Amino acid sequence: MHDTLSQSPDGVPGKSSLFAPCDTFPRRHLGSNAGEVSKMLESMGFQSLDALIDSAVPARLRLSGPLDLPAGLGECETLAELRVIALKNKVFKNYIGQGYSDCIVPAVIQRNILENPGWYTAYTPYQAEISQGRMEALINFQQMVIDLTGLDIANASLLDEATAAAEAMHMAHAVTKNDDARAIFVSELCHPQTIAVVRTRAEPLGIEVVVGDEAEFDFKQKKAFAVLLQYPDTTGGISDYTTLIEQAHAAGALAIVAADILALTLLRPPGEFGADIAVGSTQRFGVPMGFGGPHAAYMAVKDALKRLMPGRLVGVSRDVHGQPAYRLSLQTREQHIRRDKATSNICTAQVLLAVMASMYAVYHGPEGLKAIARRVHAMAEAFCARVMTQGFGALNGEFFDTVGVKCHAREKRDGILKRGLEQGINLRAHGEDVILVAFDETVTGADFRALEAVFGVEPDPEEDFTSASWKEIGFRDLFLRTSSFLTHPVFNKHHTEHEMLRYIRRLEARDLSLTTSMIPLGSCTMKLNATSEMLPVTWPEFGKLHPFAPAEQTAGYAELCEQLSAWLAAITGFAAISLEPNAGSQGEYAGLLAIRKYHLSRGEGHRDICLIPTSAHGTNFASAVMAGMKVVTVGCLEDGDIDLTELRAKADAHKERLAALMVTYPSTHGVFEETIGEICEIIHERGGQVYMDGANMNAQVGLMSPGRIGADVCHLNLHKTFCIPHGGGGPGMGPIGVAAHLAPFLSRDGSNPASIGAVSAAPFGSASILTIPWAYIRMMGAEGLTDATKIAILNANYVARRLDAYFPVLYKGRNGLVAHECIIDIRGFHKTTAEDVAKRLMDYGFHAPTLSWPVPGTLMIEPTESESMEELDRFCAALISIHAEMSAEESGAADAKDNPLKNAPHTALSVIAGEWARPYSRETAAFPAPWLREHKFWPSVGRIDNVWGDRNLFCSCVPVGE
Ligand SMILES: Cc1ncc(COP(=O)(O)O)c(C=O)c1O
Repeated sequence: MHDTLSQSPDGVPGKSSLFAPCDTFPRRHLGSNAGEVSKMLESMGFQSLDALIDSAVPARLRLSGPLDLPAGLGECETLAELRVIALKNKVFKNYIGQGYSDCIVPAVIQRNILENPGWYTAYTPYQAEISQGRMEALINFQQMVIDLTGLDIANASLLDEATAAAEAMHMAHAVTKNDDARAIFVSELCHPQTIAVVRTRAEPLGIEVVVGDEAEFDFKQKKAFAVLLQYPDTTGGISDYTTLIEQAHAAGALAIVAADILALTLLRPPGEFGADIAVGSTQRFGVPMGFGGPHAAYMAVKDALKRLMPGRLVGVSRDVHGQPAYRLSLQTREQHIRRDKATSNICTAQVLLAVMASMYAVYHGPEGLKAIARRVHAMAEAFCARVMTQGFGALNGEFFDTVGVKCHAREKRDGILKRGLEQGINLRAHGEDVILVAFDETVTGADFRALEAVFGVEPDPEEDFTSASWKEIGFRDLFLRTSSFLTHPVFNKHHTEHEMLRYIRRLEARDLSLTTSMIPLGSCTMKLNATSEMLPVTWPEFGKLHPFAPAEQTAGYAELCEQLSAWLAAITGFAAISLEPNAGSQGEYAGLLAIRKYHLSRGEGHRDICLIPTSAHGTNFASAVMAGMKVVTVGCLEDGDIDLTELRAKADAHKERLAALMVTYPSTHGVFEETIGEICEIIHERGGQVYMDGANMNAQVGLMSPGRIGADVCHLNLHKTFCIPHGGGGPGMGPIGVAAHLAPFLSRDGSNPASIGAVSAAPFGSASILTIPWAYIRMMGAEGLTDATKIAILNANYVARRLDAYFPVLYKGRNGLVAHECIIDIRGFHKTTAEDVAKRLMDYGFHAPTLSWPVPGTLMIEPTESESMEELDRFCAALISIHAEMSAEESGAADAKDNPLKNAPHTALSVIAGEWARPYSRETAAFPAPWLREHKFWPSVGRIDNVWGDRNLFCSCVPVGE
């Protein structure tokens, strides 16, 4: 067994010598110590961990040597090394704008949400009864977006503004009644990164992107299904889009408006001038820029479009006691149900950041937000007035936060930009002679004066930034917002820090996160998100960088990204890595685009068939369609393996058009398929490429690699294998690794038609959370990472063995072993459903395993390496105890309807309610296991009525009194 698991001479596992630091990390990350590992192995009849791994993992796929990674460092040394890298980033004062603004993260939100594992370690709220806190925060987010955009319904976040605009394009394309309208008109004044992502998304679908001046676009000449406008535009200007939108509607096109969320507190909202869809970023509502992310994008639509909306939507339903309760609504829209018919592949989104943005609105309230917006606007107006006195011109007559300063000569402009850089100030060049100066809430009087100096403006001694001379400057009536917003009480009562703190903590207490117990969700890898990994995320050297800051200021990020890419390349066995995709779904899309470009480059652009096993994740199907491919499914055999005969037949039938196979390894059935090598060969022999879905990389790291197995491209869910917390449903990161022949296509440079182009708004996606996998890999080292994989496999097999006698393990691989997860079958019981078991687990203090995926009526358990033997035993004991309850139900010993399973979960209120008329005790209801006496997690609502929620769709804050 490896020495990270064994004791060194001075008693600290993993230490190489007496003088080596005592804060070794693998022993903190791995749940069990050497003694417990031995016990687990013994219970399964294995002499050693390696003996188990040799039995479970096909030898011919194994790596021949250790990973080429540095040895692990202690926690302090790792942070010190990362600090050195961080300090290579230069924090300048940013006036770049372009969709990213510095902001003040309220400390109460930073500490109690962004830095709080109670919030950041939760999973997507599929188990609604134990996720009410974050769903309330998300309903607040939706209400905030609805109010500010003036539209009917909003979702619970998208990945970034640019991809949100592309999603809107997809929606508009899906609903267009103009069959011959294949174009989208995009204003040239949209943010450049938005135009780039829209172009990328449009190309494989055969959509023409017409970029130009909206004043000149003629709907009669060109049939368009949508227009995309920026409000205020990227140069800061505010235009009246009413007539243009009327023309678009008359021509049967939809209007999509990308709008600045803060500006909407003062400006007429898009819904009031006819927009059908509004998108944007909520970053400036208290979320650090982080060199591009993560931040929550928003989307709001007219009611008629709600069933086509991408992403998750929180709605209000009611629980079994008739109380209002939140749940995810209209899930039948989503990729996991609609697969290749879905309009979007979005799965992981940006929940944690949406929660932060909503809390910013709760904390400031409508008046506070307006005050911030007025201050930002007044500064911009004051600055404009000041520079005008020095002979500069104004690009726009009306603007919100961004002043376009005409310098009248390129040299003069460049001189100012240079002076700015010398003073630690970033400005944005535009056109021939313009400088764009975007203000934000962090700008102080001193900053203002420094800016004046850069433009050669003499400071006005009379100007006092604290006095009434800060007159409020309004907009023309035409642009002025007159409608009220955020009138719901939640936005009007938590304005003191005490109230805010208590509100945050109250919601947190309603959610089960990793701070309570293991979250054994198969395919989701809910492992430890270590505090040392999380600390750097909020360092200003990572948080305060603008994604389009000059490269000289971002050397630290460059080094971090280079090192991380090299390490991920070593782990995956690939030649190149792109860190741009900001979720697994986006990685799939980017990887498939690389395959598409590769075929095109070889004159084989006709290859458009993507084979996908029926057991694959819904995102696979949706991503393939978005990449312009046609999906052909391949079935699985009784034992869960891909049906090779069918695969071969379908690959043959489509061999002229075969583009790719998407395959997950180990399979979504939790086994190492022996035939994976042959599967790759079948595809390659017929000219196709193998896309490996890396969601299950936790079973591969250090033992095998996608490159060695034979894949050409693979995405990694950094929010699974590499410790980025799930944040309650996001953020995530989905970088891709590619073999050498695909590397030339990875660039985001749109000017190269051979490259895939931009897939995220920012070049490194959600860059600030790349610090987490960096720290994880640095602390674990090659040996620690390999041990993690081995222990993940051990833990899954231990749980499988313990439960098999009660719930048959559905699929097993070689020697009756599973990989890093196992599926237990509930279908042998006719009266208890898998859902009943999931809800009853809540009474025992556990989150359910993955429910009914990939096989209906089953539970998929992934313990991960971070859970201790004690926790695994507790979880198994809970399921075994539930098995006894199921047997009582099955045999008729328990009432068919009134039993602990059917009534689960039990809330505190339901068990203390005066009369207790149930045929089982209150103790059985709420304290069915001994450990609950020490710590009891109370679900805050009873079982939720899903059908009622969809029939009575309501997706905003519950009116007071209900
Ligand atoms: C097998 C598999 N593939 C793809 C995905 C999609 O990844 P993401 O949610 O990061 O978009 C998931 C997510 O759970 C998954 O389990």
